[in-house]
Amino acid sequence: MAVSGMDNIVIQTHALTKTFGKRTAVNQLHIEVRRGEIFGFLGPNGAGKTTTIRMLLGLITPTSGSISILGRPVTTEHTEVLPRVGALIETPALYNYMNGRDNLRTVASMFGPVDERQIDNVLTIVGLAGRQRDRVQNYSLGMKQRLGVAMAMLNDPHLLVLDEPANGLDPAGIVEMRDLMRNLAAIGKTVLISSHVLGEVQQICTRVAIINNGILIREASVDELTRGQGIYVVFVERVAEALALVQAQPWGAQAVVNPQGALMTAAPNGLGRELNTFLSQAGYVPDALYYQQETLEQVFLRLTANPGGGIR
Ligand SMILES: Nc1ncnc2c1ncn2[C@@H]1O[C@H](COP(=O)(O)OP(=O)(O)O)[C@@H](O)[C@H]1O
Ligand SMILES: [Mg+2]
Repeated sequence: MAVSGMDNIVIQTHALTKTFGKRTAVNQLHIEVRRGEIFGFLGPNGAGKTTTIRMLLGLITPTSGSISILGRPVTTEHTEVLPRVGALIETPALYNYMNGRDNLRTVASMFGPVDERQIDNVLTIVGLAGRQRDRVQNYSLGMKQRLGVAMAMLNDPHLLVLDEPANGLDPAGIVEMRDLMRNLAAIGKTVLISSHVLGEVQQICTRVAIINNGILIREASVDELTRGQGIYVVFVERVAEALALVQAQPWGAQAVVNPQGALMTAAPNGLGRELNTFLSQAGYVPDALYYQQETLEQVFLRLTANPGGGIR
């Protein structure tokens, strides 16, 4: 298939909106997911992630706005589009008394003759080939989630939509899920993965959209969101007085005191030594002063607590 500019766009929403009674769950959302991306769809609980995903999958109808997937409008052409999309929404429905392979066979048989080679394929991709004969009731939660991803891949979809696939997993399960996401990207799949836990996806996502209260706060690469967004951490006596002084400066308006009692602030001209000099001359000689790069989690908390605040 020729890959032109438009073909590179896998999901595009335009002013996508969903209301439930008086509540607007998704509000004028514009997102764009490109071919081969691991796209993180991030926001706190209740932000509107699952509602958006259900609209993407044609499970519920948008109140207004539009969605196209692989260049086709989902609302009118979902029978064309949806066979090319695999999805896992929260926890997969599994038969606990069956083994992993038989679970896949059962699902595959709903769509037609079972292709055993494709079952081998998806088991290998999700790393369950060695455990395919074990009953699912003996699987860890992480293995069950990966079996859910395998189910979503049975029809070899171009796009995978995974709603909170790491929810409830232990740290080992999260690592396995991340490895799986990387495998999917390596074999050319496009993946949309939602999460309310930022640290989970920071390392694997190429780009992210952050939503809160149904509204898009920011869509950008992880690098763009975290680059140059560092902050100085200062331990100083009489921190409340120092905070008030710093907040009165044009460069320090966003300063706060963190729960550990450290002053968190930008520096004059972005330079730590100027911050040090400023505080020292004002009589607040720092006990310690260091620079901390913001994590995606901190960016997210800042953007969702105060949309517009501190966005470059
Ligand atoms: N079927 C529904 N009926 C009424 N309100 C709903 C329904 N589904 C979701 N909501 C509301 O829409 C908002 C977004 O929910 P949801 O999309 O599940 O958020 P998230 O997946 O980001 O946690 C929430 O306030 C939720 O209570
Ligand atoms: Mg959800």
